[in-house]
Amino acid sequence: MRKPIIAGNWKMNNGIEETSHFFNSIKEKSIPPGLEVVVCPPFTSLYIADKLSDGSSIKLGAQDVYWEISGAFTGEISPIMLRELGCKFVIIGHSERRGYFGETDEIVNKKILASINNGLIPIICVGENLTQRENGETDSFIKHQVEKALKDLEENSVEKVVIAYEPLWAIGTGKTADAEEANRVIGLIRNTVKQIYSEKTAETVRVLYGGSVKPENIKQFMSQPEIDGVLVGGASLKPEVFWEIIEASKQLL
Ligand code: 13P
Repeated sequence: MRKPIIAGNWKMNNGIEETSHFFNSIKEKSIPPGLEVVVCPPFTSLYIADKLSDGSSIKLGAQDVYWEISGAFTGEISPIMLRELGCKFVIIGHSERRGYFGETDEIVNKKILASINNGLIPIICVGENLTQRENGETDSFIKHQVEKALKDLEENSVEKVVIAYEPLWAIGTGKTADAEEANRVIGLIRNTVKQIYSEKTAETVRVLYGGSVKPENIKQFMSQPEIDGVLVGGASLKPEVFWEIIEASKQLL
């Protein structure tokens, strides 16, 4: 059984004050054992998030990482530094990083390898844009992104990775993918993992959906057989809204 993940990607939101408020509001609540809850604040809020999440079962993730562990790389953050801040997860290859900061499949792959080698679980983002979808290129593009992301990964490492399917046209737009269609593409991602590795590994990898997830639509995604959870942007910023998503998911366990 794959344990479902509810992950929040705060992007460039929630400074120290909002982060303190978030964790202080949520820390008394108990996370159901059948769910893994991950919050990914900006780098500057990780320290306080680590302190305030101590004793809760909320796990922390970062939103990016560099592939070297130290050295003259001005402005970058290493996987070891993230571990020191209590991170267990790191989002890699989000479409905003690929689109605004020129991250290529090769860079994404290097970051994934470095994360795994240093004990972080990558949440690898893939997703097609609207033109690709309209041109019927979704399946081939997603397969290609997954293959490139997993290049040179050992099978026993792949079992631990998390993949997030985030169609670009559904991010921050209020427009979600149809849940059945998201389920189909996620099945294709799993099948790609099976082709590269094995059925057993493909059945272990958790694949999430992301793009305009909110309390009102969470159940339709969480009830799909291939969807192992969600990566939530805007609706993860406020503790009460994020908690509604967790509560609704709990009912489906
Ligand atoms: P929204 O939930 O705001 O659409 O963002 C999705 C996302 O990009 C999560 O990584």
